[in-house]
Amino acid sequence: MSLLIRGGTVVNHDHSRRADVLIEGDTIARIGTAIDAPAGVEVIDAGGCYVMPGGIDPHTHLEMPFMGTVTADDFESGTKAALTGGTTMVVDFCLPDPGQSMLAAYQDWRRKSERAASDYGFHMAVTSWSKQVFDEMEIVVKTYGINTFKHFMAYKGALMVNDDELYNSFARCAHLGAMPLVHAENGDVVARMQEALIARGVCGPEGHAYSRPPEVEAEATNRAIMIADMTGAPLYVVHTSCREAHEAIARARASGKRVYGEPLIQHLLLDAGEYESRDWDHAARRVMSPPFRDKAHQNSLWAGLQSGSLQVVATDHCAFTTEQKRIGLEDFRKIPNGTGGLEDRMPLLWTAGVATGRLTKEEFVAVTSANIARILNIYPRKGAVAIGADADLIVWDPSGHKAISAKRQHSRIDYNVFEGFTCTGVPVVTLSRGRIAWKDGDLRADKGDGQYIERPPFSPIHVANSTWKQQTAPIAVQRGGITP
Ligand code: URP
Ligand code: ZN
Ligand code: ZN
Repeated sequence: MSLLIRGGTVVNHDHSRRADVLIEGDTIARIGTAIDAPAGVEVIDAGGCYVMPGGIDPHTHLEMPFMGTVTADDFESGTKAALTGGTTMVVDFCLPDPGQSMLAAYQDWRRKSERAASDYGFHMAVTSWSKQVFDEMEIVVKTYGINTFKHFMAYKGALMVNDDELYNSFARCAHLGAMPLVHAENGDVVARMQEALIARGVCGPEGHAYSRPPEVEAEATNRAIMIADMTGAPLYVVHTSCREAHEAIARARASGKRVYGEPLIQHLLLDAGEYESRDWDHAARRVMSPPFRDKAHQNSLWAGLQSGSLQVVATDHCAFTTEQKRIGLEDFRKIPNGTGGLEDRMPLLWTAGVATGRLTKEEFVAVTSANIARILNIYPRKGAVAIGADADLIVWDPSGHKAISAKRQHSRIDYNVFEGFTCTGVPVVTLSRGRIAWKDGDLRADKGDGQYIERPPFSPIHVANSTWKQQTAPIAVQRGGITP
């Protein structure tokens, strides 16, 4: 099937120009001015609109077992919601139970993701360390096309890994040409603060925020950066939420370390005041880790996106219904952690970023698709309007409006943390590998339309990046990580 997008302005991360885009099959065949429509081609009028790469959300948790329950959006509802908001690829976290084989977890996730309506990939989580994990990491990279491994420095007693495990795994990543990701919060300190709060009778959702101050995130971010540096691995810090963690990343980058930071749209727009609500449901629906911060932290995150010290805006879409949140009615430690945002990330970021003058439209493309495509080694197949690239495209109306409301959303949950926000800037058309997935309010994508996207490993030069005595990096890389 062929499509011609006519009359729009093509926006990439590095330039914009007036051009038509011809799509043949899954990919972009031509970009140029005044392309004649071949016979039988469907023409999409993009007059007054921008034609941009579809968004990539590199941080989702679809149908994920977590904290005694399972996230409410599965690969079908989650990716459909994504497409309506202009996101054409998600990267989800494949999470083995501690001790479970990564290969078995991968098979579970492949089964669940058969329902995906958009393209998708996985990060693999390292939730324990053993000879089996060491061996399976190679299969994950070489056979499954996964070049990223996630490490939780929080969730003590569940997913958390300790420093020796981080070091072993990061070194293994460096050897395999893979990149470690971290959830950076000091889980030991969080657990201690939680106990102290409960002992003092603080059991409500506000206790969640009190037990996870910026310091626990800053400490863990600094620690992960240093451990990665000692192994020669690059590092990607997920859901960077505070000034101190952002500064640690900026400092690392300024000293030559290959470290990336990912703020969430929630942390950019919502603040800690949400937890002071007298309405338990309201506050609990916003319980996530790290928690929302105050305005000074938000300003720092925006500055990071503007200056390039933070590279990606994600959602960490981990949606629980109000009923699921109520598992923690008596004890905030039991409230399932997570919020949604997959459907709204792009319009919200345009509204608060581009429409306010904080970001250019090219920077918007950088932080919603191009940067993460490069970081994940799938650029320019994804993240670019370029000949030969997958035709994952959005036709973006910068003056279109959308009022966010749970009543109209595609996510399965019964509320929206952005309820009442009005967005200026919306996708009028979303194409997923050349197929119309969303057009003028009509969702056309169906379950199973999405494809699994393999990501090749990075070159050894890319990962051998230690600034800690340059000579030690090759040693760590040669060792291939520490065998148990
Ligand atoms: O609260 C959060 N962020 N839930 C999802 C799991 C995680 O930590 O990313
Ligand atoms: Zn996390
Ligand atoms: Zn997450």
